[in-house]
This record gives sequence, C-alpha cells and structure tokens, in this order.
Amino acid sequence: MELYLDTADISAVKRLSRILPLQGVTTNPSIVAKSQASLWEVLPALRDALGGEGKLFAQVLANQTEQMVEEAELLHSRVPGLVVKVPVTAAGLAAIKILRTRKIPTLGTAVYGAGQGLLSALAGAEYVAPYVNRLDAQGGDGIAMVAELQQLLSLHAPHAKVLAASFKTPRQVLACLLAGCQSVTIPVDVAEQFISAPAVQAAVDKFEQDWQGAFGRLSL
Ligand code: E4P
Repeated sequence: MELYLDTADISAVKRLSRILPLQGVTTNPSIVAKSQASLWEVLPALRDALGGEGKLFAQVLANQTEQMVEEAELLHSRVPGLVVKVPVTAAGLAAIKILRTRKIPTLGTAVYGAGQGLLSALAGAEYVAPYVNRLDAQGGDGIAMVAELQQLLSLHAPHAKVLAASFKTPRQVLACLLAGCQSVTIPVDVAEQFISAPAVQAAVDKFEQDWQGAFGRLSL
C-alpha cells in the first residue's frame, strides 16, 4: 500500500517522515492557501522535507480544459515527477484525456461517487481520490463508495489506484484499507491520532515506574 500525508506543513512532514513509511505528500489549493506560502516554494520544500525523494501531488486551479492542461504542464515541468490533481468535472475529464497523451500523470480528485471516479480512471488518471469524510458529512457513505470504486477499478481500469482522501479519523482510514483500497492520504492530525494513544503512553510510564521502583534507575 501507499501512505501519503495531506498537508503543506513542512515541519510536520519533516517530523512525520522520520516515523511513518511515507511515499510522499498530497496538497490541494486550500491546503497551500492555508500555509500562506507560494506554491513554487512549498513544493520543493516538501520534497526536501521528505529527504529529497517521494511523490508529490499538486492541483490545477483552472476550471476550463485548456487552462487546466496549461497549468498541469507548468506544474509538471517545474516539479519533476509531480502527479497533477485534476477535479473530475466535464472539463477535468477532457483535460485528463489530453494529459494522458502528453505523458503527464494525473489524479482525478473531488470524487464523490464511484462512477465519477471510474470515468477519471478510464480517461487516463493514474490515481483516483474519493472524498470519504466529505461524503459522510453529506449523509452519504464514504467507505461504501471507496469499496465500490476499488472493485470497479480492479475490473475495468486496473492501471489506476484508489488514493482515498478526506479523513477525519483513523477508523475511516482503516475501513478504506479493509475495503481493499491501495493508497490513502491522511492529514497531520489523523496521523498523530494513529501514533499517540494516551493508553499507550500510560503503559510505557508504568513500565518505567516499576523499573525505577525495583532498581532505582531508568536504564537496563
Ligand atoms: C485530497 O485529494 C483532498 O484534497 C483532501 O484530502 C480533502 O480533504 P478535506 O475534506 O479534509 O478538505
């Protein structure tokens, strides 16, 4: 499986890439806007924070096919290996088809339905990003969508991977992985929830206390 961080927070990527088996970092326009830094500074800094390697994802802002293609070409030429995120609208699907012929890798994003995700894969996207929590928040079932999409891609577009996105809890992430999706991108707070359970710290503290009580020191 592939694990990504969904952030433009350079120090968080530096810290978490030492702990987690990260394949790279995903961003979107809202995430970059929140960092208040220029996209052209953020992307190289994220790659440095990953130790100079790892896959980066950045999204086009345009909403018309021609401009989407231009922005994708710019992103791809300035950041080697970058995967371009394209919202799966009618204009986005047309852009993905063109970008495929130009050998620019894409991810179909803003996916709220399995059929919509399948279309982006058939158009040529390498990754498809279903929005799990956003669909849940609308009263839908994000995990069921991921399960359906995974099955559809396995049957009809096996070159493409589900990269499930928009998570608020570790449980949502695990449910997607159990549904068979091969990659996930998680925000920093969800990554921290995975590794900082209070009960775990309490157990480690108790081992120290017991050892200190018996031997009067904190080393073996
Ligand atoms: C990734 O492709 C999405 O842009 C991102 O995960 C959306 O997350 P949000 O719903 O927490 O904004």
